[in-house]
Amino acid sequence: MKETQETIASLLQEGRTFYPPEELVENSNVKRFMDEHDIPTYDELLRKAQNIEWFWSEMAREVSIEWYEPYTQVLEWNPPYAKWFINAKYNIVHDALDKQAKLRKNKLAYIWEGEPGDIRKLTYHDLYREVNRFANALKDLGIRKGDRVTIWLPMIPELPIAMLACAKIGAIHSVVFSGFSEKALLDRIQDAEAKLLITADGFYRGGKVIELKSRADQILDQTTIENVIVYDRTNINPPMKEGRDHWWQDVLGSRKCETEIMDANDTLFILYTSGTTGKPKGVIHAHGGYAVGTASTLHFIFDIKEDDIWWCSADIGWITGHSYIVYAPLILGATSVMYEGAPTHPTPARWWEIIERYGVTVFYTAPTAIRMFMRLGEKYPQNHDLSTLRLLGTVGEPINPEAWVWYYKYIGNEQCQIMDTWWQTETGMQMISPLPITPLKPGSATKPFPGIDADVFDPEGNSLHGRNAGGYLVIKKPWPAMLRGLWRAEERYINTYWSAYPNIYFTGDAARVDSEGYFWIQGRLDDVLNVSGHRIGNSEVESALVSHPAVSEAAVVGKPHEVKGEAIVAFVVLKSGIEPSEQLIDDLKQHVAKEIGKIARPDEIYFVPDLPKTRSGKIMRRVCRAVMLGKDPGDITTLANPEAVDFVRKAASGEV
Ligand code: PRX
Repeated sequence: MKETQETIASLLQEGRTFYPPEELVENSNVKRFMDEHDIPTYDELLRKAQNIEWFWSEMAREVSIEWYEPYTQVLEWNPPYAKWFINAKYNIVHDALDKQAKLRKNKLAYIWEGEPGDIRKLTYHDLYREVNRFANALKDLGIRKGDRVTIWLPMIPELPIAMLACAKIGAIHSVVFSGFSEKALLDRIQDAEAKLLITADGFYRGGKVIELKSRADQILDQTTIENVIVYDRTNINPPMKEGRDHWWQDVLGSRKCETEIMDANDTLFILYTSGTTGKPKGVIHAHGGYAVGTASTLHFIFDIKEDDIWWCSADIGWITGHSYIVYAPLILGATSVMYEGAPTHPTPARWWEIIERYGVTVFYTAPTAIRMFMRLGEKYPQNHDLSTLRLLGTVGEPINPEAWVWYYKYIGNEQCQIMDTWWQTETGMQMISPLPITPLKPGSATKPFPGIDADVFDPEGNSLHGRNAGGYLVIKKPWPAMLRGLWRAEERYINTYWSAYPNIYFTGDAARVDSEGYFWIQGRLDDVLNVSGHRIGNSEVESALVSHPAVSEAAVVGKPHEVKGEAIVAFVVLKSGIEPSEQLIDDLKQHVAKEIGKIARPDEIYFVPDLPKTRSGKIMRRVCRAVMLGKDPGDITTLANPEAVDFVRKAASGEV
């Protein structure tokens, strides 16, 4: 530990650069690509790839995308709408599965481990057969091209099977994270007007069975859902409604199923993410560009080779799992590890056992998990043979140097480069990240991926590149896996992403770029929290709180947290006649967990007689947050009720 502390101290002082080992560089996919294209240096690669039409068409070839009919034009850019690989006929399932079932028939696609210790291994042939059988089941239940199918499944192989089956027949999947509540499920089903729900009876997490189907039953009557398919994971026999609900095993069809030939720009899926209002946004991704973008990044950044064992520890319910557990690894014909349960069940060594058991070579996780393991102590990883690892990665939030060093030393044994990848649900693919040839600066996501034109702007739209000054992170050219819009919310799409600067994508993040062109991401600018790498809208939690009968108003803010990155703090005004109590605090926390999901449960709740507001009645979260953190709230004289600032200060400091 002492040695680590010294490393951290020197790292923080020196701002040390870590150069990639020569062997990694020499054998990397990106170096081979550069040699083949006579590109001598990294800088030259980045420069040349700014010809995005050249670069992305080369990348489509590099990751062996097979179009049914070729494209006639790489890009059609009618801001703010991009289309990629124009006129190509395509289906992502061809590259992810149909082709692989021939090329890599007996290679493992997934090594899956359930929390209780059960193991399933699926070859590409197995996966192909299961997807076909399930795709025929969907067809038999009336699902057609363009229909929306909501999937509320845990981390079991049936989740990728269900997604691929939808894509295969041209249906649009909308996966809802299994940790979300049934209320969140309801909102997402309604917005997408889904016809079919795929779920499980339950799943294992932390040694318990978490029910799904019986909870879905509470909301299904209020939806457009006509049929429900239920996978029996935990044998708990939920009630089944005659005519509507079907067991997975009972509906499987024949093993033969033609893949629907789509246009490369047809919608593949919708994935909901949090924004600044209480209503989640349905981000739309399309078959062709998404395939090229996700496969290219996994190929270059994580350098996946034929014999790698890849483990992305995310849940498929988030974009990280969609892109880097399901689509990209399959397109590259890789073997992925998939794990169902809690990271520390039954012991804090569970993840390290998994790495050891399957000989994982490339591992991708979140800083919040690293900080949690760091707290538990290095003895757990140290008792395991992690020597198969050759590359590590992180995603979801900035990684603090302490966690970086711990990861580098205790998981990577100082042998593995750490790929800190910045991206979003909307970008679909990793956007700012090191490659195996990139010198690392801990805490920096380093440089934009080739073909990505990222910059940092001041409010007037002047570039702050190279000046090390904080500004708005923007993307200046389209990229293949970019979102194609928001589901039935065109105005919101334009306002959220394309209104700050003309024809430039606004990420909602703050960042700075140093004199060497390294990007340092500073976090969200808008009212969105980042709790354990998950995006939660402040207003989503506020809406949940005010839906409780005791609450009249609420302000939700983030507070720095050692493990989670941000903790959720709520200031609540109760309805008249309601008395504050510890019991009520517990009830409100429970209520939010029920409305949204456990990840949104507030860590702290304070009761106040009033909240600081502008004269037009807008609650000033910024003021609440500053006061809570003991900072200067700025000019408060223009508030309608300046005295409320003191209520918040007293509540947060425990004076009341
Ligand atoms: O604020 C950034 C943060 O996560 C946001 C995107 O969240 P989501 O759409 O849920 O996708 C998360 C996984 C891709 C970003 O706007 N973020 C993501 N990766 C990083 C990050 N912040 C800093 N460093 C990162 N590597």
